[in-house]
Formats: sequence, structure tokens, C-alpha cells
Amino acid sequence: MAKMEVKTSLLDDMIGVGDMVLLEPLNEDSFINNLKKRFDHNEVYTYIGSVVISINPYRSLPIYTPEKVEEYRNRNFYELSPHIFALSDEAYRSLRDQDKDQCILITGESGAGKTEASKLVMSYVAAVCGKGAEVNQVKEQLLQSNPVLEAFGNAKTVRNDNSSRFGKYMDIEFDFKGDPLGGVISNYLLEKSRVVKQPRGERNFHIFYQILSGASEEFLCKLKLERDFSRYNYLGLDSARVNGVDDASNFRTVRNAMQIVGFMDHETQSVFEVVAAVLKLGNIEFKPESRANGLDESKIKDKNELKEICELTGIDQSVLERAFSFRTVEAKQEKVSTTLNVAQAYYARDALAKNLYSRLFSWLVTRINESIKAQTKVRKKVMGVLDIYGFEIFEDNSFEQFIINYCNEKLQQIFIELTLKEEQEEYIREGIEWTHIEYFNNAIICDLIENNQTGILAMLDEECLRPGTVTDDTFLEKLNQVCATHQHFESRMSKCSRFLNDTSLPHSCFRIQHYAGKVMYQVEGFVDKNNDLLYRDLSQAMWKANHSLIKALFPEGNPAKINLKRPPTAGSQFKASVATLMKNLQTKNPNYIRCIKPNDKKAAHIFNEALVCHQIRYLGLLENVRVRRAGYAFRQPYEPCLERYKMLCKQTWPHWRGPARAGVEVLFNELGIPEEEFSFGRSKIFIRNPRTLFKLEDLRKQRLEDLATLIEKIYRGWKCRTHFLLMKKCQIVIASWYRRYSQQKKYQKIKSSAITVQSYIRGWKARKLLRELKHLKRCNEAATVIAAYWHGTQARRELKRLKEEARRKHAVAVIWAYWLGLKVRREYRKFFRANAGRKIYEFTLQRLMQKYFLEMKNKMPSLSPIDKNWPARPYLFLDSTHKELKRIFHLWRCKKYRDQFTDQQKLIYEEKLEASELFKDKKALYPASVGQPFQGAYLEISENPKYKKLKDAVDEKIIIAEVVNKINRANGKAASRIFLLTKNNVLLADQKSGTIKSEVPLGDVTKVSMSSQNDGFFAVHLKEGSEAASKGDFLLSSDHLIEMATKLYRTTLSQTKQKLNIEISDEFLVQFKQDKVCVKFIQGSQKNGNIPTCKRKNNRLLEVAVP
Ligand SMILES: Nc1ncnc2c1ncn2[C@@H]1O[C@H](COP(=O)(O)OP(=O)(O)OP(=O)(O)O)[C@@H](O)[C@H]1O
Ligand SMILES: [Mg+2]
Repeated sequence: MAKMEVKTSLLDDMIGVGDMVLLEPLNEDSFINNLKKRFDHNEVYTYIGSVVISINPYRSLPIYTPEKVEEYRNRNFYELSPHIFALSDEAYRSLRDQDKDQCILITGESGAGKTEASKLVMSYVAAVCGKGAEVNQVKEQLLQSNPVLEAFGNAKTVRNDNSSRFGKYMDIEFDFKGDPLGGVISNYLLEKSRVVKQPRGERNFHIFYQILSGASEEFLCKLKLERDFSRYNYLGLDSARVNGVDDASNFRTVRNAMQIVGFMDHETQSVFEVVAAVLKLGNIEFKPESRANGLDESKIKDKNELKEICELTGIDQSVLERAFSFRTVEAKQEKVSTTLNVAQAYYARDALAKNLYSRLFSWLVTRINESIKAQTKVRKKVMGVLDIYGFEIFEDNSFEQFIINYCNEKLQQIFIELTLKEEQEEYIREGIEWTHIEYFNNAIICDLIENNQTGILAMLDEECLRPGTVTDDTFLEKLNQVCATHQHFESRMSKCSRFLNDTSLPHSCFRIQHYAGKVMYQVEGFVDKNNDLLYRDLSQAMWKANHSLIKALFPEGNPAKINLKRPPTAGSQFKASVATLMKNLQTKNPNYIRCIKPNDKKAAHIFNEALVCHQIRYLGLLENVRVRRAGYAFRQPYEPCLERYKMLCKQTWPHWRGPARAGVEVLFNELGIPEEEFSFGRSKIFIRNPRTLFKLEDLRKQRLEDLATLIEKIYRGWKCRTHFLLMKKCQIVIASWYRRYSQQKKYQKIKSSAITVQSYIRGWKARKLLRELKHLKRCNEAATVIAAYWHGTQARRELKRLKEEARRKHAVAVIWAYWLGLKVRREYRKFFRANAGRKIYEFTLQRLMQKYFLEMKNKMPSLSPIDKNWPARPYLFLDSTHKELKRIFHLWRCKKYRDQFTDQQKLIYEEKLEASELFKDKKALYPASVGQPFQGAYLEISENPKYKKLKDAVDEKIIIAEVVNKINRANGKAASRIFLLTKNNVLLADQKSGTIKSEVPLGDVTKVSMSSQNDGFFAVHLKEGSEAASKGDFLLSSDHLIEMATKLYRTTLSQTKQKLNIEISDEFLVQFKQDKVCVKFIQGSQKNGNIPTCKRKNNRLLEVAVP
């Protein structure tokens, strides 16, 4: 829970002391111990007044979360534990609210955490400043410029795995609301020598490793690169891989960042082509070749690499090859071309690589600036962040270290100027008593380096420009002459005898006593590096490249713009840019972050006291504290001070009419602040102790809260009153409406109650009256009833008496009758008994019969012979009579029916009767024939002229004329014939011609055979030996078989008085000439549909299939 408490002061839960100004006692040991104690408790930040000391924790601490950002946002600098966010917040608010441009100066040695600190400041500002799509894009671009510059400008060194090898100053620009608008980046002196050579255990710039690890095969192929680091001479191999660094994924981050910053695809491509070209340049090797004039000339060993570089950069191969072999010196009108020996060729190659890379880097910065520059012309507020290489003291220190340390001297100078000197000057200006503090002013060292006449840089330039042989040694000599007497310059060669015997100082070196310590510089390379020469042939070759980026990097290669003047030296360029930077910083409100490296191992939790002590010393931190303590921790002009604290005193609140200073005096007196705690300057109040300030702040906060409460109270009162009045008004309206409503209700209730009471009373009265009337009526009725009962009783008594009398009379009559009956029976018994039973029986029988017949008469069925109805039998004893009666009735009505027939009809029915007797239940064809009338003459022989001949031949009456099929005895096939039956003969004639084929007298027909089945086949058997029988029996088939057979039977009977034998059998014999053939009928074949078929099976068998 303690952690949840809101901090109101830096003093809360303090580990050691959060502000070194409060340290007691103040000395180097206590200072270091305090830092160590805090470091051990993960407190990496400590203040000296407003300066933040940051110790690199070398591990990620959970103190940069968004929650932390919120915690520090808009809080007083001294309110919370020391943090880089507090400084960032202070700077940002001061920029936004007080319109003061800010600069954040981050210093410290390599690996102390400057770059990380600068990123933390930027990310904090990005988190707390305005939001919105446009603003966010600007922020994102500003933040994403970091990975790009780090990839190209940082490298692993022995001190830092991500060491910035260039100085960076970034101005972030804001509008009046504090929203970021854009930025400008300045870069300082890239350590380009790293491109061609790296000290042991160090790497080249990250980008080279990133490309080789992270680019796709396809992209590498495009850049003509191979993934293997060992293929490239420029890449130091002993620490090509760095623990915890993923070059491949960083490459993706860089490409993504480039895209966000606004690099076009072709620009990115060009940049990587240049990087590839630089890498490949290192692989060009030279070999000596003697020329005729005895001079050595260099030749490229393997031209393949050169060819690929030229393809990549669009340079003519011969031009580049020549530039590596010759050097043209132009002076006025003269042009002299000399060959380069192998060493010079290597020098030229490396110079080209370094120049290409460093110019590319500067181009990148310019390009990023183009993207991130503010798009408006309105006045901007600026926050500068300076992340510049720290003080460097190596074993071998060269020109670069000299330049870097010079820059640090200048920064220290500005620090001294702004914090110490300014402070003292301000005290004097304000007329405050000041006890002088001794501090070391490094202006003298700056002067040693940058003095225009006698400064080391001026000396170097002079030497470089001097005609004649110029070497590093001549330069050192010159230094020895000019600077020998300077107290901060040490050299063995100097005439000053002080160092003649100093063996720690080699002859080729000079030593400078920097404010941070002594540094020995190797003079070797100073002249060369300062000259920073690139042979004109090379720059011209580059300018000729068919590659827009490379062409733009070497504008001096344009022959049209030949400038015979020497370009400014590296030293003078740097001096100028440092001067510009200093000028820039002086116009801004400085905020300091002093970074300290706790150990050399890049390891967490290790606090190397000696190392820290060294840094504390050269950063002048103790002096810094002393100045703070001797003077006043806080100062502020009277007007803002009064404005800020006027609410703490009744006289000054809410308005103070007099001068501000008087107001502040009244205020401080009123508050009872001890006099030694503050001083009145001319325009400012000076507060000695931060604690006094905190107290004031606390009081103010408390008072503000009270005031807020007061305002809140009044506002709440007003709000409640207004609300109340409104409620009251509403209440009255509601109440009046309610009262009206309730009175209405009440009235209606009373009214309805009155009506109810009234109706009850009326009802009661009416009921009372009704009751009386009813009583009266009931009394009358009762009298009537009583009278009626009385009369009734009287009548019943009378009736009873009369009934009794009648019953007696009746009894007398019955007894009299019985008596009479007895007397009569006694008298007539003798006449009765003998015949009575029989008579009664007969009478009853007669009566029943009569009834039966009378009923039958009414129930008689119709006269139709086919009516089957007959009334039911009424008595069992009449059963036989009833049946007989039914039979008689039926016979009678049949007779009646027959009596109606004509002779014709009678004949027909006789024939039908005959047929029935012959075939019923014998031949299956019979039932179908019953309904068919027998027509006989189906062929109209007499009418049809076709049969005239036939008619003429037959003069008898024709009984049957019909077409039949005559079955061929040989094969069973049928042939149509006309079948005629006359009174005496059976004739068969040809159907077409009418010619008579056979004529058989009826007397010769002995038998007709047929099957029992549903077919029309029949055989006419002839008498053996008769004339007609010579051809054998006829086997015929006809559709009217029943009629034919019946008519043949009847005619034969009437003519011969003999019954024709009709045989019904499914198998019979037929006489064919001599043989007898069996005709067999088989049922069930469906072969020919429904038509029976005849087939000859063998000589003796003819099979007829009947369906
Ligand atoms: N606040 C921090 N929290 C965690 N790690 C840090 C912090 N500051 C620095 N570091 C670690 O220390 C390393 C070195 O820090 P940084 O690169 O900022 O040093 P530098 O002062 O910029 O060095 P150079 O001068 O070489 O550029 C970082 O890579 C990081 O690992
Ligand atoms: Mg850095």
C-alpha cells in the first residue's frame, strides 16, 4: 500500500540523497557512496539541482513504462524520485508554457548511455505532447530516424556494442500548443576511418553486417554481394557477431524505418548499392608492375570485383581503373599526371571508400531532414537534443580522439559558462552577496586547441597548406615550437625541459591536459586525416557514374566546376560546426544529463568506484554541487513569484496593488520563512534551499486545494440553490395540480357515497313498506288457506264417507254377481264342457288363416319371373304352405309371362332351351352364348350378288349361313368356308367364289364332337361308308358354335327323328381319310393372344391350345 501513496516530494522514500545538493558531508567519497547506494537500489538517476546524473544500469529497468510517463507528467521537478522523465517534462513544459527554447545536453563517455538517454527524452516528449493523425506521423518519423542513423553511424566498439560513431544534434520543433511540427538533425564528424579498418575486437558500421545477414538472397544477388562476412576485407572478423544483437532483424527494422521516414524505394535501393560498392571496394587488390622508366606502377590483381562495382554504380570500368592507377595534379594551366604505386593505390582505394561512406551518411541526414522538416512557416519553439561522443582516452589516440575531446572541452566550457559563470554573474547582477568558489575554467584548453593563431588546429591547417614536404613530424615540431609554453601542452620534443625525461611520453606524441584528464595523442596521421584528400581523378570518376546518388555525392567531380582552391580541412570544418553548435546552444535554456558508466564490462550490478570516480572528476560534478550549495537553489523574477504564491497571504490575495517585490516581501514575512533562507535580488527572489521551495509549493498546493474547494463550494451552493428553486417551482405546480385532482376525487367520492346512502335509505323504506304490505297480504291468504283447508277437510270427510258407501255397494254387487255366477254355473255346467275346446281351436285356426291370407294379399311380390322376393313366413306351422304358395305363384307368373310370347319368340326360346339342355354346365363357351340372339343367316346369301351362284345351287331354305374355318388336316392351318345348313344338308362352300366344296345329307352326320373349353372348334363326324365320308370328317371352328350345334341337333331331330350325338370331350378322334387323328385341347397357352390355335404335332395328334 505504501507504494500506492502519492509522492509529493523527492524527499519521500529517498534512498541515499536524491539531490546531491542535500548531501552531508560533501566530499568525493560521500558522493560516490551515495551514487553507489542508489545504484545498488536500482536508482540510476540522481540530481544535482536541475542536472540529472544517469548511471548506465546495463539492463532494462521497469522505469520507462507508460505508467511511469503518466506519473511524471505535469509534476513538479522535485516532486518525485529523480528521473530522466522529470527533466524531460520540465524542459517540455518550460518550452510549451514559458515559451523558452530548450536544449538537452547529454554528455558522458562512450557506453555511458547518452544515446539511450536521448531516445528516452524523445520518447517521453512524444508520449506527452499532442496527439492526432498528423502529429503522430511527425512523431513517428522523428523517432524512426534513430534506427536509420544508428545502423549507418553506430558500430560495436570495445566500450559499447552500439557506440555512436558520429555526433548528433537534433532540434525538435513544436508549435505554440506544444505539438511537434518536425525536426532538424545535424551530424558531426563520422568516424569514417572505421570503414576501412577497425581496431581489434571492434566491428565496422552495423549496416554492413545487417545487409549480409538480413537481405534476401535475391536482394544480395542484385547488390552482387555474398552472405559470407569473410569474403570482405573491410569487415573485421574477430567479432563479426555480437551477443544479443540480431543483425538480420535489425536490417528489417532499418528498412521499415526508412520507409516510415519517407525514403522512396529507388532511394533505398541506391543507398544499399553505395553500401555494397564500399564493401566491394575493399576487395580490390593491387600488384606492382615495373615500367620502362624504372618507376613502379600498380595494377589491379583481379578485375572481376572492379567490374561488379562498376556495374553496380554505373561507372565506366576503364575510368575507375585509370583513377586507381594515375593521379592528375592541376595547377593553374598545368596538368601533370603521375602513376600511383601500390601503396598509393591502396591509399586511393581506402580514401574513396571512406569518402563514399561518409558522404552517403551526410546525404542520409540531409534526406531525413527533408522528410522531417516542419511544413509550416509559423514561429516554432525548439527543443535540441545533443548526443555527442564522450570524452575518449585510449591507448592510441589519434586525430579523431583529438577532435572528439576538443568537442567535449567545448561542451564543458558551455556548461561552465552557463551554470557556474552565469550563476555567479547573475548573483552580481542581482546584487546578492556571493562567496567566490574556485572552479576550473577550461577556456584555456579550448584556446590551446582552437586559437586562430596559436591553436593546435590552426597549426595543423597551416602545416597542411604549406608548400614543401609536410609530414606529421614537421607538424609536431611546429607544435613544439608554438605551444611549448602552454601549461596544458606536454611534449618531449618541446624545448621546455619539463618532459625531456618523461619516458611515458614517446617522441612521436604530444599530450594535452584536458579538463577530464591527460590524453596522449599519436601525431601519426594527423596531417593526412586533416587533409582528407581524395584524388581529383577519383571524384571525377565518381561524378561520371551513371548513378544519380553517387553523382550527387561528388559534386566537385564535375569538370565544369573545377575549383583549384583546396577544400576546407577536416579540422577547420569541425571547428566551424562546433562553433555553430555552441552558438545555437547558447540561445537555449540548457538541461543537463550527465551519463556515467559504472563498469568497463558492460555488465549489470557492477559499480567500479575507481572508474566512476574518474568520470565524476572530469565531469566536474563535485564543483557543480558546491556551486549549488553555496548559492541559492532557486531563483525567480518577482512578478511570476508573486503571481504563483500570492494566494498564500491575505494581503496579496486576490490582488496586490503595489510593486511585485514589496508583494513578495509581505508574502514571505507573512509566511514566516527564516531570513537566511532567501535573499532579495534586484529583479529576482533567491531561495537558498530547495526545501523552502518545496514548502512554498506545498503551501500553494494546499491553498489551491482550499481555493478549489471554496469555488467548488460556491458553485455547488449556487447549483443546489438553482436546483432547489426550480424544484420548488415545480413542487408548487405539482401540488396545485395534485390538490385540484384530489379535491375532485374527494368530491366525487362524497357524491357517490351520498347517492349510495340515499339509495340504501330509500331501499330500506321501500322494503319496510313492502314487508307491511306482504304481511297484510299473507294474513289474507292465510285466512283463505285456512278456510280452504277447512273446506277441504270437510269435503274429504264427505268423500271418504261417500267412497266407503260406494265400496260397500260395489262389494255387495260383486258378491251378488259371484253368487249369481255360482248359481248359473251350477245350473249350466252340464251343457258346456263336451264341444267347447274343439270349437275354440277351429275358430282360432280359422281366424289365423284368415289373417295370414289377408296379409299375404297385401304383401304379394311383382309379376316379374326373375323377382326373387317373397314375404317372410308368419307362423311356423304354415311353413310348407308358405313354400308351396311361393312355388305356385312363381309358376303362375311364368305362365303369365310365357303367354305374352309370339310364335317367333317361342321358337327362339325353344332353341335357347334346347341349347341350354345340351350345353349348360358342359361347355365353357355356353354362358357367353346365352345373351346372343341366334340369327342363323349371318351371310345374306339371297341378297348379296356375290353369292348368287351359291344361292342358285341351293334351293332349300337356309337355316345357317355363316363363315367358318376349316382346319387343314395336314398342318392344322385354317381356311375360310361358307357353312350352310339347310333342312336336309350340310354344305361347305368356297368363301370367295361360292362354289360348293362338300355337301353332306343330314342323315350322314353321325356325331358332333367338341371340347369342354372356351373354344369354337368342333368336328362333324360322318357315317362310315357314306359318299361324303370319303374325304374324312370335318374339323371346323366357328364363333357361333353353340348356335350351330343346337340348330344342327334340332334340324337333324326334325328330319331324321334321331337325336344327333353331341360328344363333349377334350380329346376326341377325327377320321381323316384312312387315318384317325386325335384332337387334343390344352388349356393355358397365351401364344396367340385370346385366339385358340391349332397345331399338328405328329401324324396322330392335332393340338389345340385354348387360352
Ligand atoms: N537507461 C538504460 N537502461 C538500460 N540499458 C541502458 C541504459 N542506458 C544505456 N544502456 C545500455 O548501455 C549501452 C550503451 O548505451 P549508449 O549507446 O547510449 O551509450 P553512449 O553513451 O551513447 O555511447 P557512445 O558514446 O559510444 O555512443 C546501450 O546499448 C544499452 O545496452
Ligand atoms: Mg551513443
